[in-house]
Amino acid sequence: MLVRRLLGLASRGHTKYTRHTSGHAPHELQLTAIPYHYHEGFLPETREQFQSSFLIYDDFISVEEEQSLFNEVEPHLKRQTYEKDHWDDAISNFRETERKHWNAHNLPVIQRLQKFAFEPHLKLLPYVHVLDLAPQGYIKPHIDSARFCGDIVAVLSLLSDSVARFVHDQSKDQIVDCLVRQRSLYVMKGSSRYDFTHEILRSEDSILKDPNDNERKIDKTRRISIVCRCEPDVTIRHKT
Ligand code: OGA
Ligand code: MN
Repeated sequence: MLVRRLLGLASRGHTKYTRHTSGHAPHELQLTAIPYHYHEGFLPETREQFQSSFLIYDDFISVEEEQSLFNEVEPHLKRQTYEKDHWDDAISNFRETERKHWNAHNLPVIQRLQKFAFEPHLKLLPYVHVLDLAPQGYIKPHIDSARFCGDIVAVLSLLSDSVARFVHDQSKDQIVDCLVRQRSLYVMKGSSRYDFTHEILRSEDSILKDPNDNERKIDKTRRISIVCRCEPDVTIRHKT
């Protein structure tokens, strides 16, 4: 199955509102001031590493573009039932599809995303991965397999907000939660891609703390993500 091939299941692994200041988008989009919650004990140098390698852009697509992407993928998704949790699955309550060709409305959106998120020398995987999480669905902590997936992973979120959690693979007390809004694009590379596991929390766990420890509940409903990846670098030897 697709997710089993793409995802190397890893370990499991909770900050402050901070302004995301590192870098600038290549076109007019600006990095969003994202609600992040760095759990207690998160080291400043690790924060630097994380923030410069995890980029998120709110409203990357419009409501109309979201609807149009949904219209194209929904017929393929709804033919399937949601898969429940199997012990070796990285994802619970999901269904998925892949798309190589997009209709004339959506192709420019996918191309905009790919041009924006991937450096020109990287070769994109021909199939875009479409992942549909049921309202009760969630993604367990994992690092995408370096055998099947290259240096950059770009994810467009449709239908729902959610909370992504990153846990440092070597120091499990280094934990950061990020709000991933509906219609946002996030880009993982470098440290966030390789040093941290990532996961999408279940709705009941989707709580973000602000610097004053006030909790904000994020209602995750059904969520579709459009995941673009690039080819792995065949010249490096992989652990996973
Ligand atoms: C994946 C993954 C994250 C998301 O498919 O490997 O981690 O936000 N997806 O859908
Ligand atoms: Mn992943």
